[in-house]
Amino acid sequence: MSGRLRTVVLVSGDGSNLQAILDHSRTGALNISVVGVISDRRGVRALDRAAGAGVPALTVDHAAAGSRSVFTTRLAGALADLRPDLLVLAGFMRILDTGLVNQYRGRMLNVHPSLLPKFPGLHTYRRALEAGETEHGATVHFVIPELDAGPGIIQYCVPIRAEDTESSLQDRVRAGEHRIYPRAIAWVAAGRAVLKDGAVWLDGVRLAEPVMVNE
Ligand code: GRF
Repeated sequence: MSGRLRTVVLVSGDGSNLQAILDHSRTGALNISVVGVISDRRGVRALDRAAGAGVPALTVDHAAAGSRSVFTTRLAGALADLRPDLLVLAGFMRILDTGLVNQYRGRMLNVHPSLLPKFPGLHTYRRALEAGETEHGATVHFVIPELDAGPGIIQYCVPIRAEDTESSLQDRVRAGEHRIYPRAIAWVAAGRAVLKDGAVWLDGVRLAEPVMVNE
């Protein structure tokens, strides 16, 4: 991949990661051009953030689609119009169809709020606290059909403090996501991080584990 990557960001909610990506791309720190933002829900703040940055924003309404296959067909159509080189899932709360995931294999990223492979799925903060973990964090990974199982590029790790609640932990991890997601995207956009043979290669070296950033 070379030149500025046509990037589409998929969102479902607040869009704070989208904002971090838009901010970094505006400064020229990311070799991408965000050509569209697609939400699966109407009226979410992420859509306002896209509009505020002058990025075309549209909704492929999951509820209105009525079924997963109709939603997938509509989403695939919207993506075909936007011709992305790179798909960035930023708080996108749908499990994508396998065919679509495979179409963008090596070109689709996600951020997940845990130190994968720990705590795939939902409610990761609560589960980490309940499990008595001493640390928690976030992972940026390439997307494969299995949920939250794709090879990790970079992780952000925070120590869990005695006074931490779900909300305080979320705030600290989220702040870290805003640091590591633009960094991972920059690596992918520059061709420095690639998915090959089921693993992440960074600067030609196969990563045994994701790059770790500490709070
Ligand atoms: C993030 O914590 C991300 O890890 C998870 O959903 C959240 C989205 O936050 N997948 P935002 O919409 O980017 O603010």
